[in-house]
Amino acid sequence: MLKTKPTAGDTRWFVQDRFGMFIHWGLYALPARHEWIKHNEEIPEEKYDVYFRHFDPDLYNPDLWAQAAAGAGMKYFVITTKHHEGFCLWDSKLTDYKAPNTPAGRDLLTPMVHSFRKQNMRVGFYHSLIDWHHPHNVIDPHIGPYRNRADRTQLNKGRDQARYARYLHGQVRELLTKFGKVDILWFDFSYPKPDGSGKGRKDWQSEKLYALVRKLAPHIILDDRLDLEEGWDIKTPEQYQPREWVRVNGQPVVWEACQTFSGSWGYHRDESSWKSIDQLVQMLIDTVSKGGNLLLNVGPTGRGEFDQRVLDRLAGMGEWMKRHSRSIYGCTQAPDEFSTPRDCRLTYHPAARRLYVHVFAWPFQHLYLDGFAGKVAYAQLLNDASEIRMTAPDKQQPKTDSKDKHTLVLNLPVQKPHVSVPVIELFLK
Ligand code: GLC
Repeated sequence: MLKTKPTAGDTRWFVQDRFGMFIHWGLYALPARHEWIKHNEEIPEEKYDVYFRHFDPDLYNPDLWAQAAAGAGMKYFVITTKHHEGFCLWDSKLTDYKAPNTPAGRDLLTPMVHSFRKQNMRVGFYHSLIDWHHPHNVIDPHIGPYRNRADRTQLNKGRDQARYARYLHGQVRELLTKFGKVDILWFDFSYPKPDGSGKGRKDWQSEKLYALVRKLAPHIILDDRLDLEEGWDIKTPEQYQPREWVRVNGQPVVWEACQTFSGSWGYHRDESSWKSIDQLVQMLIDTVSKGGNLLLNVGPTGRGEFDQRVLDRLAGMGEWMKRHSRSIYGCTQAPDEFSTPRDCRLTYHPAARRLYVHVFAWPFQHLYLDGFAGKVAYAQLLNDASEIRMTAPDKQQPKTDSKDKHTLVLNLPVQKPHVSVPVIELFLK
């Protein structure tokens, strides 16, 4: 078994739970064409304000969100308390740029936290380090609505990054003291450039912020975007699937892939690159087979709902999880001695000593498991607990074309079971 780098935060529950929901919700739900719209379209403050004045999520019912997440088999959630646009979902005492001052008229975060806790889900807060609204966040040439403005120096007159850092730290204090136990803190993000431009640890005062976080929440799980060498618990590959267990300086680490349904994190009305249920199920399996977690994102609408495309996919994943979560929760990468059969992914439950073979492309009749001979006591399909008969290659009737005595042959039904991804559960001797 791979041993991961120890973490200051409590990642024990995290590596058991494996599957979480990311939620990106803010003013950008209204333009509905990417949460970076203020940057992408270089929208100045006074124009962006139209979304603040019209933010009215009248159908917001976080119980429904939490039910949809739990129904999909998710065990924790991470909500954008503030994204790069600077808008806050809670009733922060440090700004007026918050949900209570929009037509929403109230703190939207507290009820969400309650709803998800009711479903026994852990609570995570995403908090943007970047802030395109705060008057003291220094405008730089890389990102933000004013990045291409010739009068940037002029716009930066009187801005004091240290004051922004104080605001940032003050808000983190609020988040870690007003909402009960927070399990994950997900800062986003740093982009220091070799020439000294961009933003990083000196701009956020990351060391000090780290100390504050650990003082207020010693066991919270912290992501890796504060631009600190040490001082993180999890690596967070974004919008791609790592090819193998993520390592830092050669050592495997606790990691979590974050993925979208369709490319944008915030609600995007017109995107057409939505992943299918099968792809999403495969993505979850692929992640766990490499020892990671999957944080799958939803961008709720400006009315406060998950749209039908989201609900269909969550329901489809839930349908699979209902019968197959045994191959996900508490599971990890299989020990090296078991090589992955063609078109498959393996996961392993160390305590139960069971191996799970996820078959991405259903073969005709025979699945060859090299190196498995003599190691498996019993095999069954996970969806219906129907026995899968096993034979050594030389005992096959009719004979298969594998002669290797270390190979175990599984005799599969001709028809693929009616599930997204069939799983064969192997009870090891
Ligand atoms: C990014 C983006 C962003 C998203 C996030 C999630 O770095 O800035 O919009 O919130 O990653 O990982």
